Amino acid sequence: MPTRPRKTAEQLRSMRWFGPDDLRSFGHRSRAKQMGLAREEFTGRPVIGIINTWNELNTCHTHFPERVEDIRRGVLEAGGFAVEMPALSLGEQMMKPTTMLYRNFLAMETEELIRAHPLDGVVLMGGCDKTTPAVLMGALSANIPAIYVPAGPMLRGHWRDVTLGSGTDVWKYWDDRRSGKLGDKEWSEIEDGIARSAGTCMTMGTAATMMSLAEAMGISLPGASAIPAVDASHKRMAAASGRRIVEMVWEDMRPTDILTEAAFENAIIVDMAIGGSTNAIVHLLAMARRAGVPLTMDTFDRVAAGIPLLANIRPSGKYLMEDFYYAGGLPALLAQLAPRLHLAALTVTGHTLGEVIAGAQVYAPDVIRGLDNPVKPAGGTAVLRGSLAPDGAVIKPTAAEDRLLVHEGPAVVFRDIRDLKARVDRDDLDVTADSVLVLQNAGPVGAPGMPEWGQLPVPRKLLRQGIRDIVRISDARMSGTSYGACVLHVAPEAAIGGPLGLVRDGDRIRLDVPNRRLDLLVAEDELARRRAAWTPPPLPGGDRGYVALYRRSVTQADKGCDFDFMQGAPGTMPEPDIF
Ligand code: FES
Repeated sequence: MPTRPRKTAEQLRSMRWFGPDDLRSFGHRSRAKQMGLAREEFTGRPVIGIINTWNELNTCHTHFPERVEDIRRGVLEAGGFAVEMPALSLGEQMMKPTTMLYRNFLAMETEELIRAHPLDGVVLMGGCDKTTPAVLMGALSANIPAIYVPAGPMLRGHWRDVTLGSGTDVWKYWDDRRSGKLGDKEWSEIEDGIARSAGTCMTMGTAATMMSLAEAMGISLPGASAIPAVDASHKRMAAASGRRIVEMVWEDMRPTDILTEAAFENAIIVDMAIGGSTNAIVHLLAMARRAGVPLTMDTFDRVAAGIPLLANIRPSGKYLMEDFYYAGGLPALLAQLAPRLHLAALTVTGHTLGEVIAGAQVYAPDVIRGLDNPVKPAGGTAVLRGSLAPDGAVIKPTAAEDRLLVHEGPAVVFRDIRDLKARVDRDDLDVTADSVLVLQNAGPVGAPGMPEWGQLPVPRKLLRQGIRDIVRISDARMSGTSYGACVLHVAPEAAIGGPLGLVRDGDRIRLDVPNRRLDLLVAEDELARRRAAWTPPPLPGGDRGYVALYRRSVTQADKGCDFDFMQGAPGTMPEPDIF
């Protein structure tokens, strides 16, 4: 429960701007009045910033302008005053080279929007992949009362009598098209039917994963994360969030009251049970470091151990987020997991997690399974270590063919993404089903921004033989909607001299997921020779502006890829004090 006494109107943060009888405050008030506002509309009541990650090229957030008005309605009903604060939008499909390059940018922007303006609390609007961790990272650092409003998933996709899932079915049918099984007409029809409404990808990709984890950590209202974006319930949830943030300001309930070590452990447990995106581990590490919570890759592996997959959602299962919502949504899944969760963790409601999930029911038991009937006995992400990944790597075993989880084979090395694109489909590529594809220089520094290139395409030569999965290793990430035996986030990355950059064609590589190992089977003296001869690769993307700042300051995947200068305890940057 909140540890601070209820605030008075005079103690509101915004009153530093609007309250005093001095020249600066006269300026603030007179300019608020310039907008047609009366003094009593904005003074002495919580001023709520609605951090809106919308733009016309973020296809998943097209409903946000309407939701801003729903949130505003809630804020006004509860006696607050709402101001929309536009922030950088990270539309996963349109931004290049990758939204991950800009996650830290949005996190910084969120923090500075809060710090620089007369806000008492914020509603954080996110959903499309990186927007969720970014706004939460920023809000954690600023640490004023905050509630998260998830964008919600889009409706199910359809093609003829087939249900289509975002991403997951794109990869599947793209392989059919590459192998000549799917014609232009069918491909065009799939293009028409795979994204039918506003909202995020509706498989358990990074967006649905991070929205679910935010709810599991208690920073959004219970049940919020699975509501389809265009459902009327989504509007009601937005308005309710607006009402709640006003109360949170009076209660002085801050992100660090909610995003505690227990909340992060709950997030890891839920991530396993939903078959969450491998990206979640990078984002949770980054958020935890902002929160001052000592989360590491090892914590992740320890807490995740023994948690089964309960959500039967693609890419690890059968259904989609709309089905998950009708099945009872996240509260129903959390109720199944209750024996494993920290139920005393606080949520934005002011109640504990245990209190908010009490009585939640599963309405479709094949979609949300119980601990006694899981989809798979082990959950989504495994942390690997070994001579090829001294600081760690990850794999999503539930999305890989079981036969590849223990595998040894010869490396087929691509020095970067351009090399991969040029050669992977050539008939003379020396590759077999036993090969291990290696992509170098696709990490945070090398790419830059650690794009989702980690689901390397299965070479066309193998597709024609009917082979659909093969071991692939990179320092890149992978879309949460992807699948395959893809080892990702190898740290340290190739471009800064990690062992991944020393691999050559024909080297034997051994993957052993049950024992959490990833090893390069090359003698140490040979590796020492290669290391001495290694030179940094050319770095694409230029060396000025934001990219230069990013390359200088980004941490490796095992530390969350945040900027080294942005880490540190919440509230360590001072509030404005000279007005
Ligand atoms: Fe926005 Fe997938 S493209 S969530």
